[in-house]
Amino acid sequence: MRFSSLGLLIPLASCIDHALAAGAPVFFFTQFPTSTTALRDELISRMHNISHFSCTDEPGVSKYALVIPRGGGDNLTAYSIEQYDDDATFYKHLGAEIVSTSLFGWTTSIPNIWTKDPAVQNFTVIDSMNFVKPEFAKAADPYIVVEGLTYMSGGVHHVIEHLEEAVVASRNESGTLAFGLYTDPVNKDKLWTLAAYESEDYLTNVHNKSPTAREVDEHTRGMRSSRQTILLQKRGGFLYKGAAGCG
Ligand SMILES: *[C@@H]1O[C@H](CO)[C@@H](O)[C@H](O)[C@H]1NC(C)=O
Ligand SMILES: *[C@@H]1O[C@H](CO)[C@@H](O)[C@H](O)[C@H]1NC(C)=O
Ligand SMILES: *[C@@H]1O[C@H](CO)[C@@H](O)[C@H](O)[C@H]1NC(C)=O
Ligand SMILES: *[C@@H]1O[C@H](CO)[C@@H](O)[C@H](O)[C@H]1NC(C)=O
Repeated sequence: MRFSSLGLLIPLASCIDHALAAGAPVFFFTQFPTSTTALRDELISRMHNISHFSCTDEPGVSKYALVIPRGGGDNLTAYSIEQYDDDATFYKHLGAEIVSTSLFGWTTSIPNIWTKDPAVQNFTVIDSMNFVKPEFAKAADPYIVVEGLTYMSGGVHHVIEHLEEAVVASRNESGTLAFGLYTDPVNKDKLWTLAAYESEDYLTNVHNKSPTAREVDEHTRGMRSSRQTILLQKRGGFLYKGAAGCG
């Protein structure tokens, strides 16, 4: 494999080396700390172009979204949310011409493109607790939230059970556009969630006030030892992929 030429630095390569259980989906949430806003925007634009290729020519790439922190206070960070059906699809994607030239060729050609190394977090996908609705692709400004949640020892199992019914209920909420629950391959006491709502108002005033959301919070809050919330805005690529296209 050509990790040394990838240019997305050592952490990505070492992470990828370990990430791949045969046949399982591969999911990455990557933080790119760029040194200027112009470089951040060019990175997004290049990856957005790659997303068109992944949408049409790479059936096994199910998510390839580019997002930035919401609110404008941080104009240097970009994140990607990527999901591949399996490790073979992921390696094939890395080897695609557009990825090696337009992305890795470019990142390696810019000195000091990063203020620190990009941070790649792999999540373990729980297939039954994931959905993205076609409405996500059409939403003007989906309110995207990634959370890292740690629990007291043994709590994760209990929390997943409670979340099962919450995922079913969320699917039924018109303004809840996506939800995914993931375990952390490195920390067994940690869960990750990826959610998208039609607006912040829908999250605050409808989703969070639903009986199921309240019940889950009530039953799991006490076991939680930390909560990191990252509010995100979509800038390119796709979370939803369907017959009509990607968005
Ligand atoms: C996920 O990444 C970490 C390091 O970033 C690695 O130790 C781990 O083996 C990776 N993948 C899996 C499936 O565990
Ligand atoms: C993205 O693709 C468009 C259309 O092919 C092209 O004009 C543009 O230069 C590309 N942008 C980058 C940053 O590669
Ligand atoms: C980015 O944010 C910094 C700090 O808030 C600000 O000084 C700078 O003008 C911003 N740059 C752009 C291109 O928006
Ligand atoms: C979903 O909503 C419909 C109509 O509001 C309702 O009849 C149904 O019971 C709901 N299903 C779940 C699982 O909440």
